[in-house]
Amino acid sequence: MRVFFTGGSGKAGKHAIAYLQGQGHHVVNADLTPSGLAVPELLIDLCDAGQVIGAMSQFVDFYQLDTGDGVPKYDAVVHFAAVPRVMIGTDGECFRQNTLTTYNVIEAAVKLGIPKVIFASSETTYGVCFADGEVKPQYIPIDEDHPTVPHDSYAMSKVCNEVTAKSFHARTGIDIYGLRINHVTEPHEYAENFPAYMDDPACRRRNIFAYIDARDLGHMVDCCLKTDGLGYQVFNVSNSDASVGISSDEVVARFYQGVPVKRQMRPDETFYANDKAKQMVGFAPKHSWRDVLG
Ligand SMILES: NC(=O)c1ccc[n+]([C@@H]2O[C@H](COP(=O)([O-])OP(=O)(O)OC[C@H]3O[C@@H](n4cnc5c(N)ncnc54)[C@H](O)[C@@H]3O)[C@@H](O)[C@H]2O)c1
Repeated sequence: MRVFFTGGSGKAGKHAIAYLQGQGHHVVNADLTPSGLAVPELLIDLCDAGQVIGAMSQFVDFYQLDTGDGVPKYDAVVHFAAVPRVMIGTDGECFRQNTLTTYNVIEAAVKLGIPKVIFASSETTYGVCFADGEVKPQYIPIDEDHPTVPHDSYAMSKVCNEVTAKSFHARTGIDIYGLRINHVTEPHEYAENFPAYMDDPACRRRNIFAYIDARDLGHMVDCCLKTDGLGYQVFNVSNSDASVGISSDEVVARFYQGVPVKRQMRPDETFYANDKAKQMVGFAPKHSWRDVLG
């Protein structure tokens, strides 16, 4: 498939593009900064609607001029570009950029007749991650039916983007899938970061004790590209095991007193349910910190 990918120069995007290229997709990256990947790319600001629609409808590489058939059309847009958390710039600027870029990207896709958009939402929508003080989940494991009422501007922008996406789907009928991505972990980060998670599981509370391997996130995007006809959907994206070395019973005893547990959980099971992604698009994550640290 021909895929217009935004934010491919960032942490998650680099791995996702590499994975998609490995699956045979033709990917173009649109970002403020170069990725360093072997991928055609356009350096644009997605806050500018004119640049977005221009980038999606122009040639991106010299070889495309050879056929004389005009600009090839994209099969899908994957939108990862964002200010990726609060406390980088101001709260308001985070909200402005994330909502505006997402509106611009989806609007351009539907106006150009591109039939699928996959966009990065976030675990933060559930309101636990960047809350002022401790907010506990309303139940565990958290699935996509859990309310999304966050405190912070980053998560607000992601909730707003989900509403924007749902409305564009309602107007046009195209497939738009939102990925409520958990904490993205690159392969080298297992050895660097996870020993601290073993020593102090409390440091994973705001991430609902979950994580997603960056390569498995690429696989999830590929699953979404290959699965048509689901309309508007949101999917939790996490690995199937928790990011801490203690059992799920111990996590509940230490951190989730009084929180309803909806079903029996395996000892190492994630509290960030990924069943919907497994059932609807065939998500099958392969990686785990346990393979690296034992
Ligand atoms: N990293 C995580 O743990 C995590 C968790 C949940 C959701 N997400 C979401 O996943 C996506 C990717 O996250 P990441 O960690 O790779 O972030 P990142 O900051 O590493 O990468 C984001 C990329 O977007 C680009 N970008 C930002 N604003 C832009 C604009 N106006 N025009 C063009 N490009 C722009 C940046 O240059 C950067 O390369 C984001 O939408 C983020 O909110 C990330």
